[in-house]
Amino acid sequence: MNRRLLVTLAGLMFIAATLGLVGTRGIAAKASGSTAVFDSNGRLKQPTGYRRWIFLGAPLTPNGLNNGKAGFPEYHHVYVEEPNLDAYLKTGSFPEGTVIVKELTRVLDPTFPDGSRNEPSGRGFFNGTFNGMDVTVKDSKRFAKTNGWGFFNFGHHPLPYAESAAEAPASECAGCHMSYVAKTDMTWVQFYPMLHGK
Ligand code: HEC
Repeated sequence: MNRRLLVTLAGLMFIAATLGLVGTRGIAAKASGSTAVFDSNGRLKQPTGYRRWIFLGAPLTPNGLNNGKAGFPEYHHVYVEEPNLDAYLKTGSFPEGTVIVKELTRVLDPTFPDGSRNEPSGRGFFNGTFNGMDVTVKDSKRFAKTNGWGFFNFGHHPLPYAESAAEAPASECAGCHMSYVAKTDMTWVQFYPMLHGK
Protein backbone atom coordinates (compact mmCIF):
# COMPACT_ATOMS: atom_id res chain seq x y z
CA MET A 1 0.00 0.00 0.00
CA ASN A 2 1.49 3.32 -0.90
CA ARG A 3 1.50 6.34 1.35
CA ARG A 4 -1.14 8.24 -0.59
CA LEU A 5 -3.62 5.38 -0.38
CA LEU A 6 -3.02 5.11 3.37
CA VAL A 7 -3.76 8.81 3.87
CA THR A 8 -6.95 8.47 1.81
CA LEU A 9 -8.04 5.44 3.83
CA ALA A 10 -7.38 7.23 7.11
CA GLY A 11 -9.43 10.17 5.84
CA LEU A 12 -12.33 7.89 4.89
CA MET A 13 -12.24 6.20 8.28
CA PHE A 14 -12.32 9.59 10.00
CA ILE A 15 -15.39 10.60 7.99
CA ALA A 16 -17.09 7.27 8.74
CA ALA A 17 -16.40 7.67 12.46
CA THR A 18 -17.82 11.17 12.43
CA LEU A 19 -20.94 9.97 10.64
CA GLY A 20 -21.20 7.11 13.12
CA LEU A 21 -21.08 9.51 16.02
CA VAL A 22 -23.82 11.68 14.52
CA GLY A 23 -25.87 8.54 13.88
CA THR A 24 -25.49 7.36 17.48
CA ARG A 25 -26.57 10.73 18.79
CA GLY A 26 -29.63 10.63 16.56
CA ILE A 27 -30.61 7.23 17.86
CA ALA A 28 -30.01 8.24 21.48
CA ALA A 29 -32.29 11.26 21.06
CA LYS A 30 -34.98 9.04 19.57
CA ALA A 31 -34.69 6.35 22.22
CA SER A 32 -35.68 8.80 24.94
CA GLY A 33 -39.03 8.81 23.11
CA SER A 34 -40.08 12.24 24.27
CA THR A 35 -41.49 15.06 22.22
CA ALA A 36 -41.40 17.39 25.24
CA VAL A 37 -39.17 20.37 24.50
CA PHE A 38 -38.03 22.61 27.35
CA ASP A 39 -36.35 25.98 26.84
CA SER A 40 -33.35 27.14 28.88
CA ASN A 41 -35.69 28.46 31.61
CA GLY A 42 -37.40 25.09 31.96
CA ARG A 43 -40.55 26.26 30.21
CA LEU A 44 -42.33 23.63 28.13
CA LYS A 45 -42.87 24.55 24.49
CA GLN A 46 -46.40 24.08 23.21
CA PRO A 47 -46.69 20.50 21.86
CA THR A 48 -47.40 20.28 18.15
CA GLY A 49 -49.30 17.76 16.07
CA TYR A 50 -51.09 16.33 19.09
CA ARG A 51 -54.54 16.30 17.46
CA ARG A 52 -53.21 13.42 15.34
CA TRP A 53 -51.97 11.43 18.33
CA ILE A 54 -54.08 8.64 19.86
CA PHE A 55 -57.36 10.00 21.19
CA LEU A 56 -58.00 8.57 24.66
CA GLY A 57 -61.31 10.14 25.58
CA ALA A 58 -63.48 13.20 26.12
CA PRO A 59 -64.72 13.82 29.68
CA LEU A 60 -67.47 16.46 29.77
CA THR A 61 -68.44 18.54 32.81
CA PRO A 62 -71.06 20.93 31.37
CA ASN A 63 -72.45 24.03 33.09
CA GLY A 64 -75.90 22.41 33.08
CA LEU A 65 -74.72 19.81 35.59
CA ASN A 66 -72.64 22.24 37.71
CA ASN A 67 -75.07 24.99 38.77
CA GLY A 68 -74.25 26.95 35.62
CA LYS A 69 -70.62 27.48 36.62
CA ALA A 70 -68.48 24.47 35.79
CA GLY A 71 -64.74 25.11 36.15
CA PHE A 72 -64.28 23.49 32.75
CA PRO A 73 -67.63 23.49 30.90
CA GLU A 74 -65.98 22.15 27.75
CA TYR A 75 -65.16 18.71 26.36
CA HIS A 76 -61.75 17.58 27.57
CA HIS A 77 -60.08 15.86 24.63
CA VAL A 78 -57.16 13.74 25.81
CA TYR A 79 -54.29 12.60 23.56
CA VAL A 80 -51.15 10.50 23.95
CA GLU A 81 -48.56 9.35 21.41
CA GLU A 82 -48.86 5.80 20.13
CA PRO A 83 -45.50 4.40 21.39
CA ASN A 84 -46.33 5.62 24.90
CA LEU A 85 -49.80 4.08 24.72
CA ASP A 86 -48.26 0.78 23.57
CA ALA A 87 -45.78 0.85 26.45
CA TYR A 88 -48.57 1.58 28.94
CA LEU A 89 -50.60 -1.36 27.66
CA LYS A 90 -47.59 -3.66 28.08
CA THR A 91 -46.29 -2.44 31.44
CA GLY A 92 -49.12 -0.58 33.20
CA SER A 93 -47.17 2.66 33.40
CA PHE A 94 -46.10 5.37 30.98
CA PRO A 95 -42.46 5.61 29.85
CA GLU A 96 -40.26 8.51 30.89
CA GLY A 97 -40.86 11.44 28.58
CA THR A 98 -44.55 10.69 27.99
CA VAL A 99 -46.60 13.77 27.10
CA ILE A 100 -50.37 13.81 27.66
CA VAL A 101 -52.38 16.66 26.17
CA LYS A 102 -55.85 17.66 27.31
CA GLU A 103 -57.42 20.14 24.91
CA LEU A 104 -60.73 21.78 25.73
CA THR A 105 -63.43 22.33 23.14
CA ARG A 106 -66.51 24.34 23.92
CA VAL A 107 -69.99 22.86 23.57
CA LEU A 108 -71.45 24.15 20.32
CA ASP A 109 -73.70 27.25 20.64
CA PRO A 110 -76.14 26.17 23.37
CA THR A 111 -79.84 26.94 22.87
CA PHE A 112 -80.98 25.49 26.22
CA PRO A 113 -79.84 26.76 29.65
CA ASP A 114 -78.11 23.43 30.37
CA GLY A 115 -75.73 24.02 27.45
CA SER A 116 -77.39 21.59 25.05
CA ARG A 117 -78.98 22.11 21.62
CA ASN A 118 -81.13 20.19 19.16
CA GLU A 119 -79.58 18.53 16.14
CA PRO A 120 -80.99 15.92 13.73
CA SER A 121 -79.48 13.18 15.90
CA GLY A 122 -81.26 14.47 19.02
CA ARG A 123 -80.84 16.96 21.86
CA GLY A 124 -77.36 16.92 23.28
CA PHE A 125 -73.89 18.38 23.39
CA PHE A 126 -71.75 18.86 20.29
CA ASN A 127 -68.14 19.93 19.88
CA GLY A 128 -67.67 23.65 19.34
CA THR A 129 -64.40 25.59 19.11
CA PHE A 130 -61.05 24.91 20.79
CA ASN A 131 -60.76 26.64 24.15
CA GLY A 132 -57.58 25.79 26.04
CA MET A 133 -54.88 23.27 26.76
CA ASP A 134 -53.38 21.47 29.76
CA VAL A 135 -50.36 19.19 29.43
CA THR A 136 -48.63 16.66 31.67
CA VAL A 137 -45.08 15.36 31.12
CA LYS A 138 -43.52 12.37 32.86
CA ASP A 139 -39.93 12.99 33.94
CA SER A 140 -39.13 11.39 37.29
CA LYS A 141 -35.98 13.45 37.86
CA ARG A 142 -37.16 16.86 36.72
CA PHE A 143 -40.52 16.54 38.48
CA ALA A 144 -39.54 14.38 41.46
CA LYS A 145 -41.48 16.61 43.87
CA THR A 146 -44.79 16.01 42.11
CA ASN A 147 -44.66 12.25 41.78
CA GLY A 148 -42.67 12.27 38.55
CA TRP A 149 -45.03 14.39 36.44
CA GLY A 150 -44.91 18.07 35.48
CA PHE A 151 -48.09 20.08 34.88
CA PHE A 152 -48.47 22.90 32.38
CA ASN A 153 -51.30 25.20 31.40
CA PHE A 154 -51.20 26.92 27.99
CA GLY A 155 -54.32 29.00 28.55
CA HIS A 156 -58.05 28.58 29.02
CA HIS A 157 -59.32 30.58 26.06
CA PRO A 158 -59.79 30.34 22.26
CA LEU A 159 -56.77 29.87 19.93
CA PRO A 160 -53.97 30.79 19.90
CA TYR A 161 -52.61 29.29 23.12
CA ALA A 162 -49.37 30.38 24.81
CA GLU A 163 -46.21 29.33 22.98
CA SER A 164 -44.63 28.05 26.17
CA ALA A 165 -45.65 27.48 29.77
CA ALA A 166 -43.85 27.37 33.11
CA GLU A 167 -44.46 24.40 35.38
CA ALA A 168 -47.66 25.09 37.33
CA PRO A 169 -47.45 25.09 41.14
CA ALA A 170 -48.48 21.81 42.78
CA SER A 171 -51.39 23.58 44.49
CA GLU A 172 -52.91 24.41 41.09
CA CYS A 173 -52.56 21.05 39.39
CA ALA A 174 -50.44 18.19 40.66
CA GLY A 175 -51.90 18.25 44.18
CA CYS A 176 -55.32 17.11 42.98
CA HIS A 177 -53.88 14.41 40.71
CA MET A 178 -51.66 13.24 43.59
CA SER A 179 -54.68 12.98 45.92
CA TYR A 180 -56.74 10.84 43.59
CA VAL A 181 -54.63 9.10 40.97
CA ALA A 182 -51.12 8.80 42.42
CA LYS A 183 -51.37 5.02 42.05
CA THR A 184 -52.33 5.06 38.38
CA ASP A 185 -49.34 7.05 37.15
CA MET A 186 -50.97 10.41 38.01
CA THR A 187 -53.47 9.87 35.19
CA TRP A 188 -57.23 9.27 35.39
CA VAL A 189 -56.96 5.99 33.48
CA GLN A 190 -60.43 4.95 34.67
CA PHE A 191 -61.97 7.47 32.24
CA TYR A 192 -60.15 6.19 29.15
CA PRO A 193 -61.38 2.87 27.70
CA MET A 194 -58.22 2.60 25.56
CA LEU A 195 -56.18 2.35 28.77
CA HIS A 196 -58.30 -0.03 30.83
CA GLY A 197 -59.46 -2.08 27.89
CA LYS A 198 -63.13 -2.47 28.92
C1 HEC B 1 -59.50 19.43 41.44
C2 HEC B 1 -58.71 18.40 40.76
C3 HEC B 1 -57.85 18.74 39.56
C4 HEC B 1 -57.00 19.82 39.38
C5 HEC B 1 -56.73 20.96 40.33
C6 HEC B 1 -56.38 19.62 38.08
N1 HEC B 1 -56.83 18.47 37.49
FE1 HEC B 1 -56.16 17.66 35.76
N2 HEC B 1 -57.65 16.30 35.83
C7 HEC B 1 -58.56 16.13 36.88
C8 HEC B 1 -59.55 15.12 36.50
C9 HEC B 1 -60.71 14.63 37.40
C10 HEC B 1 -59.22 14.70 35.20
C11 HEC B 1 -59.93 13.68 34.34
C12 HEC B 1 -61.40 14.03 34.11
C13 HEC B 1 -61.64 15.34 33.43
O1 HEC B 1 -60.86 15.77 32.58
O2 HEC B 1 -62.65 15.97 33.78
C14 HEC B 1 -58.00 15.44 34.82
C15 HEC B 1 -57.31 15.24 33.65
C16 HEC B 1 -56.15 15.88 33.29
C17 HEC B 1 -55.37 15.58 32.12
C18 HEC B 1 -55.62 14.44 31.15
C19 HEC B 1 -54.80 13.23 31.55
C20 HEC B 1 -55.25 12.61 32.85
O3 HEC B 1 -54.51 12.72 33.86
O4 HEC B 1 -56.33 12.00 32.89
C21 HEC B 1 -54.35 16.48 32.08
C22 HEC B 1 -53.27 16.58 31.01
C23 HEC B 1 -54.51 17.34 33.22
N3 HEC B 1 -55.59 16.96 33.96
C24 HEC B 1 -53.67 18.41 33.52
C25 HEC B 1 -53.93 19.31 34.56
C26 HEC B 1 -53.24 20.58 34.71
C27 HEC B 1 -52.13 21.10 33.82
C28 HEC B 1 -53.77 21.19 35.81
C29 HEC B 1 -53.46 22.57 36.38
C30 HEC B 1 -53.53 23.68 35.47
C31 HEC B 1 -54.76 20.27 36.36
N4 HEC B 1 -54.83 19.16 35.58
C32 HEC B 1 -55.48 20.51 37.53
C33 HEC B 1 -58.51 16.78 38.07
C34 HEC B 1 -57.76 17.91 38.35
